Amino acid sequence: MRSIAPAKINLHLRVGPPTSTGFHPLVSWMCTIGLCDTLVVSPAPQTVLTCDDSTLACDEENLILRAVRALEREARLTGFDLPTVKIALEKIIPLGGGLGGGSSDAATTLMILNETFKHPLSPNVLHRMAAELGSDVPFFLHGPSAICMGRGEIVQPTATPRPKAALLILPGIAMPTPAVYRKFDELRLGEDSDWATEPAWTKWAIFSAEALLPLLVNDLEPAAFAIEPTLKTLRADLEQTLHRPVRMSGSGSSLFTLFDEIDDAKRAADQLRSRIDSRAIRLAPQKSSV
Ligand code: C5P
Repeated sequence: MRSIAPAKINLHLRVGPPTSTGFHPLVSWMCTIGLCDTLVVSPAPQTVLTCDDSTLACDEENLILRAVRALEREARLTGFDLPTVKIALEKIIPLGGGLGGGSSDAATTLMILNETFKHPLSPNVLHRMAAELGSDVPFFLHGPSAICMGRGEIVQPTATPRPKAALLILPGIAMPTPAVYRKFDELRLGEDSDWATEPAWTKWAIFSAEALLPLLVNDLEPAAFAIEPTLKTLRADLEQTLHRPVRMSGSGSSLFTLFDEIDDAKRAADQLRSRIDSRAIRLAPQKSSV
């Protein structure tokens, strides 16, 4: 069985001061994009994970295997054994790009194994397991467009944005998420008291790229730029070249801007191609069109 695991971008990401758990409360509009890993699942005598990218560890720390182990435990509680499988991961989503690749792989694992299980677990149980695996994992059970709150685990599906495409810029830098949040605290960036104010999401969803882009904020940008100043320079350079706002996704390093039509994003990608890895990507695509 082949299944795709799409990446996400955080169109908008507001972050508050850390709670007693150490995690940061956030309000984020997240959207899947047409950049996808593929998971190929087949029956096997024992559960094993392989990946075509040798830099990715396929051990028990990998979120895919952690998702399998969590499902096995939960299935056993219901009195049944989960069938053993081989999962072959075809990795496309860059690591440390703020695009949620590992989280999407984990959510996809939960969904596809649950579908093949004779005694499927309920959506609520899957959601709880997803939240235990990581802050971004629950979003991928819902997609393609949702407002995520709490530490990311409260997911409210929302209308997909009117712009149909993103230009995604992949600087080839792996940003460590915990370090970005630590820098966020060091710089006291969570002290802006309006971080929790929710915009009129349904109105935002009907705005064109030109109207929406200036409203979008990512509170982690100053923290990521303090760790990796070249990202700040790159963003300024891209904004000047493209004549439009450019934002960072998640804790970086990926940058993006939006276009109403995919052809406009393709033209911008052509303009940048010789300088940096940039791709025209569909926003919130139907599974059949990625
Ligand atoms: O939940 P996840 O394992 O993806 O989070 C990775 C790290 O990012 C956490 O250990 C924490 O340092 C930081 N984080 C945070 N607040 C969030 C999400 C992540 O501080 N809402």
